[in-house]
Amino acid sequence: MSILKANKPVGLCSDHAGYEMKSLIEGYLEAQGIEYVDFGTNNAESCDYPDFAHPCAEAVERGEVYPAIALCGTGNGIGMTLNKHQGIRAALCWEPELARLARAHNDANIVVLPARFISPETAINIVETFFNTDFEGGRHQRRIDKIPVGKSC
Ligand code: RB5
Repeated sequence: MSILKANKPVGLCSDHAGYEMKSLIEGYLEAQGIEYVDFGTNNAESCDYPDFAHPCAEAVERGEVYPAIALCGTGNGIGMTLNKHQGIRAALCWEPELARLARAHNDANIVVLPARFISPETAINIVETFFNTDFEGGRHQRRIDKIPVGKSC
């Protein structure tokens, strides 16, 4: 089963450093007939990634979008912000194998791309791999269940 069988629109968010690559990914999604919700930013002017990450994370938590794609220059700032949300497992991926493992082992619900460090081709390959990999469950589910603070013992 592909992650896209969830039949929800994909969420997207970025800051200015990720804006161009976010636009490219939106073009890819449109070409594939995949619906999406864009939480911004909507231009290349300097901005603050939390302003776009929090609304995107909240929409994932509410089940309105799934999965989501997030971008900033390094992927770190926006990823840190997203992972403050209890229902979010955001994974920073700079090559497709990391995206495969983020889905298979971590059931990541947001893929985070370091826009200033990967090519457009790599970005699309990461997104495709993320979308097409299923969570393996089993021992990985047990570990994921222990991620929330206070649930490890
Ligand atoms: C913006 O210059 C840059 O700091 C931001 O995109 C990101 O890399 C932060 O983590």
